[in-house]
Amino acid sequence: MIVTTSLNYLSFSRGLGVRLSASVLVPVLFTSAMAASKISGVLLKQNHCHLLSRNLARCMGTFKGAVAGEPEKPVMKSQDIPGPKSKELLSQLEKIQQSGSVQLFGDYDKSIGNYLVDVDGNVLLDIYTQISSVPLGYNHPDIFKALQKPENLRAVMNRPALGVFPGGDWPDKLQNVLLSVAPQGLSHVTTMMCGSCSNENAYKNMFIRYQRNQRGGSISFNEDEMTSCMVNLPPGAPPLTILSFKGAFHGRTLGVLSTTHSKYIHKIDIPAFDWPIASFPRYKYPLEENTRENKAEDDKCLAEVSELIEKYNKAGKPVAGITVEPIQSEGGDHHASPEFFQKLQAIAKENGAGLLIDEVQTGGGPTGKFWCYEHFNLPSPPDIVTFSKKMQLGGYYLKSEFVPQQSYRVFNTWMGDPGKVVLLEAILEVIKRDNLLATVEASGKVLMNGLGSLQKEFPNLLNSLRGRGTFLAIDAPSSKLRDEMISRLKKKGVQAGGCGDLSIRFRPALIFQPYHAEIFLDIFRQVVKDING
Ligand SMILES: Cc1ncc(COP(=O)(O)O)c(C=O)c1O
Repeated sequence: MIVTTSLNYLSFSRGLGVRLSASVLVPVLFTSAMAASKISGVLLKQNHCHLLSRNLARCMGTFKGAVAGEPEKPVMKSQDIPGPKSKELLSQLEKIQQSGSVQLFGDYDKSIGNYLVDVDGNVLLDIYTQISSVPLGYNHPDIFKALQKPENLRAVMNRPALGVFPGGDWPDKLQNVLLSVAPQGLSHVTTMMCGSCSNENAYKNMFIRYQRNQRGGSISFNEDEMTSCMVNLPPGAPPLTILSFKGAFHGRTLGVLSTTHSKYIHKIDIPAFDWPIASFPRYKYPLEENTRENKAEDDKCLAEVSELIEKYNKAGKPVAGITVEPIQSEGGDHHASPEFFQKLQAIAKENGAGLLIDEVQTGGGPTGKFWCYEHFNLPSPPDIVTFSKKMQLGGYYLKSEFVPQQSYRVFNTWMGDPGKVVLLEAILEVIKRDNLLATVEASGKVLMNGLGSLQKEFPNLLNSLRGRGTFLAIDAPSSKLRDEMISRLKKKGVQAGGCGDLSIRFRPALIFQPYHAEIFLDIFRQVVKDING
């Protein structure tokens, strides 16, 4: 696995723009999995906060980088972020676009591995990874290699209308790349562009299947249905509904927005469907000290789901599907137990509703399993699993009974992007070769242990540590303090992100090693200590 090069990896990446067509493959030093396994064995035995700096010193002694050329640690060049160059660019951008959400401008030539470099030269340890969408960090050598193959470059250059003119290799690509990681029991896949449009179209699959069942399996329509749908009226446009959960986030496009309930700013002024919204569990932490309350919370939420389905069915607005995140992410990293999901699936089945698990944020490995719902031991597969982010393109896996039998019912011009499947193929090979799900588990344990110690040391500032793999979150007592922590982390060279009102969320890349966790914990401890005064 290890091949060395005399060429500095960064200079290679900088030259890429003009060298893409060159056939020279630059071998690279790839050390992550080996370094990680050595280090994690030492670190996992030690979990007390006062050991953090010592741990860090020890593991930095063996530093090699998750990918060759990765910096050893964060480096701050500007006093603040955004720095002067980012500010200058922001003033240009503001003249053209609404840019209130822009935090900094990245230098994607220099960013590498787990480090995001900004245009001011700040080198930030990135535990937010472009809203959880960068599986192998920045400029990963294996993705460069993949992009140098002529057939892969052609896939990037030519973007066919896949629903009409797919390339000859498309069935193979779907089979060998996308279906190679399909949730067990889901035999079909539909490719799309982003997370919202994946959910949006998957909801249509649930409506189509529901109506087909209502027609006793027939796929022909009567005249009344065909004319009424053209003016948005029943019976052609039936008043079917999708049940979603309070605090959920399924995207911002017009249909899915009716199932998004995380922040008012996403929804205000936009018309929405009257669809049922049930409570999602809000657990007390630590879980082991609150089992009775949390079980009661599960039962309360599940009873609400059943009641709402009955109510909407009776009101002539049948529930055709239930949409749920395995971990409510944007809404604040709210978890529910495997039993909750098992019972939810049973309720969906009893009522003839489809069960859609939205793995847009959780999919692709960050919880230690490729799909988060695999933690739930469901007795049978969910009906639909949607994805995007770490998978590079949007889409969904589904059971054959959810596939429409007529064409053009779920359709758009591109139906995905073969160029993104090239990236996904390389990513999946690296995940497998370097056993990155084990790295996620090892780094997640270091983070969890370190954060657990900090939470014990500063109970006035940190609480409710939770999560799976590296997909973790911890709460501050107020939004103000949470934002203050994130802002101070940034000043010390860590790009972190929040979710919900109180949480800091951890969304590092899959190549985030235990020693990166130690670097983070060291900085976070300083931040919390400073705030504590
Ligand atoms: C669970 C979930 N579903 C859907 C979406 C929407 O994805 P996109 O922003 O790609 O439209 C997101 C985005 O954060 C998400 O976290």
